[in-house]
Amino acid sequence: MAKGYTVWFTGLSGSGKSTLANRLAEIIRSRGQVVEVIDGDVIRRSLSKGLGFSKEGRDENIKRVGHVCSYLTATERVAIAACISPYKAIRNANRDLIGDFVEVYCKCSLDECAKRDPKGMYAKAFAGEIKGFTGVDDPYEEPENPEVIVDTDSEDINTSINKIVKVLERMDFLPEIETISAEEEEVIKKRLESLGYL
Ligand SMILES: Nc1ncnc2c1ncn2[C@@H]1O[C@H](COP(=O)(O)OP(=O)(O)O)[C@@H](O)[C@H]1O
Ligand SMILES: [Mg+2]
Repeated sequence: MAKGYTVWFTGLSGSGKSTLANRLAEIIRSRGQVVEVIDGDVIRRSLSKGLGFSKEGRDENIKRVGHVCSYLTATERVAIAACISPYKAIRNANRDLIGDFVEVYCKCSLDECAKRDPKGMYAKAFAGEIKGFTGVDDPYEEPENPEVIVDTDSEDINTSINKIVKVLERMDFLPEIETISAEEEEVIKKRLESLGYL
């Protein structure tokens, strides 16, 4: 089982990256792995403060996040990146840099993202108050071969999370939860009963 790896969420604003990244981190942590979420919004206020939203600015931002993930992965931790990361080439460069890389595409229609508009950004973008907003007047390049596609348009959060967890288990990145047999459960129940707990 690989010790460090990166789960890279990509998708439009409002497609569910942060929601799923944080939920996934809890699950990964509960299974004994050390995990860090690198959220685009936080990075834009810290490591990438002052960088713009031109193609160059976006690529530089994603390159920096890639370096952070590569450092965490190489030091046997789990990195979860949640950034729009609209350009394919830089995502693939990060895949090559990091190696143990699981790309999760949060697939959600622009209509649905704009309807959710969790930060009120689409309203501003459609009103022309924000220029170069991904999906509105800036490109988003869909991944060609992501390890996971979550249809966050139609699925509920649990369904999306289960899909991701299953793939991480199947790829041997995440240990499966040990399930106990009915007989073992009966033995435990009897023991607890005899001790007066049940
Ligand atoms: N399957 C799903 N996965 C993730 N989020 C979902 C899903 N279905 C509905 N949502 C909702 O969509 C919104 C996504 O917002 P957020 O996670 O902030 O997106 P992003 O980080 O991609 O901008 C949340 O309000 C969340 O509850
Ligand atoms: Mg987010």
